[in-house]
Amino acid sequence: MRSLKPLFDRNKIWSAEKSAEDPEFFTKLVSQQSPDYLWIGCADSRVPANEIVGLPPGELFVHRNVANVVVHTDLNCLSVLQYAVDVLDVEHVIVCGHYGCGGVQAALNNSRLGLIDNWLRHVQDVMKKHRTRLDELPDKASRLHRLCELNVMEQVLNVGQTTIVQSAWDRGKALEIHGWIYDLHDGLLKDLAVCVKSAAEFAEVYQQVAESA
Ligand code: CO
Repeated sequence: MRSLKPLFDRNKIWSAEKSAEDPEFFTKLVSQQSPDYLWIGCADSRVPANEIVGLPPGELFVHRNVANVVVHTDLNCLSVLQYAVDVLDVEHVIVCGHYGCGGVQAALNNSRLGLIDNWLRHVQDVMKKHRTRLDELPDKASRLHRLCELNVMEQVLNVGQTTIVQSAWDRGKALEIHGWIYDLHDGLLKDLAVCVKSAAEFAEVYQQVAESA
């Protein structure tokens, strides 16, 4: 007996609705995908990439992990990035974090949750890099708020430092990296103004992030 029947039931309804809206919906998607954007976001169930930006299947290439971290040795994330940039030819990489991120909070609190603590060390590195300014903030809530933002900004830098993005810029490919943050309270995105679209701009944004309070 198949388990999780309600999910299969919902799937049938969804499939029927999509076909009713557009009889060619699945046929078109089967033949190819040509998304313009790569989304690197948090695995949090409250932050569904496509829904937030109102894009249907086929228009957003997505990689998600806990706390939207881009690690230079993470073959999973790097493979998604390389495929998106070199094969799908996306022109925008969006790193999107969210306020109230449990992963960022655990990093900030130095929580002991298990294996995940090792992953969140990367967020703790961000915290340590910006410790002086974070410590100046009045309370824990504002430190969490700011660390969620700083984490996105640092991951934008990490994307920009990959050989994938550096090589794409070297060969003149149009490729912009964006840093956004999502607010669970109102469902709105905020642009963190760390957009970078060339190797030349990168140094500038790197400095901007380093000086971020
Ligand atoms: Co999160």
